[in-house]
Amino acid sequence: QTIYLSDYKVPAYLVDTADLRFELFEDGARVHSTLAFRRNPDCQENQETGAPLQLHGDSLKLESLVLNGEAVAPSNYNVSDELLTVNQVPQHFTLQVVTWIEPQNNTRLEGLYKSAAMFCTQCEAEGFRCITYFPDRPDVMARFSTRIEADKTAYPVLLSNGNPVEQGDLSDGRHFVTWEDPFPKPAYLFALVAGDLLEKQDSFTTMSGRKVDLRMYVEPRNSEKCEYALDSLKRAMAWDEQTYGREYDLDIFMIVAVDDFNMGAMENKGLNIFNSSCVLASQETATDMAFERIESIVAHEYFHNWSGNRVTCRDWFQLSLKEGFTVFRDTQFSGDMGSATVKRIESATVLRTAQFAEDAGPMAHSVRPASYMEITNFYTLTIYVKGAEVVRMIHTLLGPDLFRKGSDLYFERHDGQAVTTDDFVKAMEDASGRDLGQFRLWYEQAGTPQLAISDEYDESAGVYHLHVKQTLPDTPGQTDKQPQHIPFALGLLGSRGEALALALSADELASGDAPQERVLELTEASHSFEFHGLSERPVSSLLRHFSAPVRVSYSWTREQLLFLMNHDSDGFNRWDAGQRLAIDVIQQMIGAPKDVTVDARLVGAFRHLISDADLDQALVAKMLVLPTVAYLAELTDGADVPAIHRARRRVLKHLAIALRDELVACYRRNIDSGPYQLGPEAVARRSLRNTALAWLLLINDEEGRSLGLGQYRDADNMTDRMGALKAFVNSGYDDDRAATLNDFYQTFQHDPQVVEQWFSVQAASRRTGQLSHIHALLEHPAFDWKNPNKIRAVIGAFAGQNLVNFHNPDGSGYQFLADQVCKLDDSNPQIAARLVSPLTRWRKFAPEYSQQMQAALMQIRDKENLSGDLYEVVYKSLAD
Ligand code: ARG
Ligand code: ZN
Repeated sequence: QTIYLSDYKVPAYLVDTADLRFELFEDGARVHSTLAFRRNPDCQENQETGAPLQLHGDSLKLESLVLNGEAVAPSNYNVSDELLTVNQVPQHFTLQVVTWIEPQNNTRLEGLYKSAAMFCTQCEAEGFRCITYFPDRPDVMARFSTRIEADKTAYPVLLSNGNPVEQGDLSDGRHFVTWEDPFPKPAYLFALVAGDLLEKQDSFTTMSGRKVDLRMYVEPRNSEKCEYALDSLKRAMAWDEQTYGREYDLDIFMIVAVDDFNMGAMENKGLNIFNSSCVLASQETATDMAFERIESIVAHEYFHNWSGNRVTCRDWFQLSLKEGFTVFRDTQFSGDMGSATVKRIESATVLRTAQFAEDAGPMAHSVRPASYMEITNFYTLTIYVKGAEVVRMIHTLLGPDLFRKGSDLYFERHDGQAVTTDDFVKAMEDASGRDLGQFRLWYEQAGTPQLAISDEYDESAGVYHLHVKQTLPDTPGQTDKQPQHIPFALGLLGSRGEALALALSADELASGDAPQERVLELTEASHSFEFHGLSERPVSSLLRHFSAPVRVSYSWTREQLLFLMNHDSDGFNRWDAGQRLAIDVIQQMIGAPKDVTVDARLVGAFRHLISDADLDQALVAKMLVLPTVAYLAELTDGADVPAIHRARRRVLKHLAIALRDELVACYRRNIDSGPYQLGPEAVARRSLRNTALAWLLLINDEEGRSLGLGQYRDADNMTDRMGALKAFVNSGYDDDRAATLNDFYQTFQHDPQVVEQWFSVQAASRRTGQLSHIHALLEHPAFDWKNPNKIRAVIGAFAGQNLVNFHNPDGSGYQFLADQVCKLDDSNPQIAARLVSPLTRWRKFAPEYSQQMQAALMQIRDKENLSGDLYEVVYKSLAD
């Protein structure tokens, strides 16, 4: 069943207050809900004729239904699989609903469920309807109160949104706590937690001087893993005040960590719930990357308090209103906390590797989709990271000051409302006076714009001509698209690497005011620009900072790429030039005869990066990472993944052999003497050292081996330990690999977050991630079919990261994924529908692969009791 944006209707009834009472037991939970309804004055139809009341419900047992104090007669209501309909209702009324649910049997992890010994909830997008009957749509906002009753010994901590207002003991060893949330909110922001949890306290004083209680709740064994999240939270709170003028609005802010969680985290009002892997960290158990991720996710969920909760979405087609904007905010924050260039490289990598692939695949959709079947399938990179790029482009077009004026206006104008992406753009227009009419196409048109760039230099006139052609590929259901409004940042370099002035006319040249970087605005299918006053042919630095989420084609020579790698003042483009050079070299190696050697200029460039300690080491650490097989495959039509993998390895090994001495020197130069630190320099040092180690072990270097063994043994932090483990797992040292893997498991077997890393390093490896090993991992006692993190760590890492084994020419990898997805569909359809995604890209690959992938999808399609989630993805992938 497809839902269309164009069918949107305002709700017929509104809910002013929702008073909930939960009785939690081991064999189920009883939910008493008292809802104050009134007809929606904005609903014409209902004003005139009086519509039936329709409430959403899913997997509920209705125990009682009382309207204005009287039981509703069976003839006056109807219960179906998805709806409770009450036929005749007055203008205003109170409905009391009692439902019985079974959290202990809830394996979908939507609504109220049990994770280990605790109760917790996940209500976005449509989980609240698994708790009680309710108009479960974001434009119905109610004031909630929540009374939780449970056994006091097993569940001493009882949490919900807002402020605690009452608590006390009940008979039979039970107790209760009542919470009140003063802010009206949609049901998707409701949360409840009950468990035997440890509380960590902190506080933050807001810019207006209010003291906010900060609390983190975790299982007692995680006591030492809370500090970083709480510190990140305080940094995020201060940053949002400084950067957006946004202050926190309740007296208490809580974070809870749960082990079983479908996604990363959830921004429930005042009570954020996190996947343990996205919030718990200590030096010994979390890598630098994990710390970085935690900081950004903690900030992301906190920032939602304004961009999501105070101003929410009218309907789920508007999901990017909160997600795109909030991802933009969290990337700005991370950039400010560390290196903005490095953060930009990371964002662009995700976008170009995975979001571009989504845009080119069967599930391609616009940032504001026009239709969907199952909303959980639309928590995508397009909604999140392309949505963030769209906001970033508005920021680029308006500049920081007008953008801030726009965000102030947006928050002020729509506080307490459920609105659309169009309302967001309108606020930006009204505050800045800029016309963003054409820009809105970014929300409506799916697909990645392509810019084809050519140039010529007119020596006699001293003029450089740059031509840009914009095209937008067809996507399912969308053809013949309009040109979009694209901010295109440009720089020009002279032959000594100096920045040249960009004068668009002879007059501007004469004025002497021409800037050294410009943001050109592309609005037509093709543009030509002239740059005056150039005494030699410049080298262009195109799309600086990755100023728009587009593909750029231009026939760079390798000399030009080397030149940009060394001289561009834009760090992002220095990195990008290195990537393009490496891609060019690797692509040349695909299927090349043995005697073709790797371009010595690439070796020279890498030698320079590894050896010159005066370069920005954080940038160098990124520049040394060769483009992944996933990205190389994304760039190729009819990809043969094993062939790409072999070519990439050939280049990697060639580099490692040629630069062997430099790698050892780089490793030694970057050994840390002092205590563990998390600053950008220390992180860059560990990253460089781990890259050097990985390369040395790839060529079975004996000195590398002893450095690696020492590093593994002496590591006082997970980045070093995992770096060494990973290097051995991917090396030819079979005994060391087995020994380190074994030692690692013995050391950390009691820590689920570390065991997850242990699973995924094996599942993602060419050597340990063959199918027989993957099957063994699934049989391992620590594997758990009910835990999404374990599933992702093994099955997700295999299909998503271990491309060479997944794309085994015999089709066994595809068959394996199909089997696991079918199995999971019965317990957790949301996870099944996500895991299947590597198969959905079947059309991209060479025929011998693609046919087998298609066959695996068909097998899933024919499964009995296919869930709605999986049906949508598989059906759309197979459609022509
Ligand atoms: N709003 C959450 C976040 O981005 C994600 C929740 C996703 N939930 C889901 N069922 N898909 O922070
Ligand atoms: Zn979010």
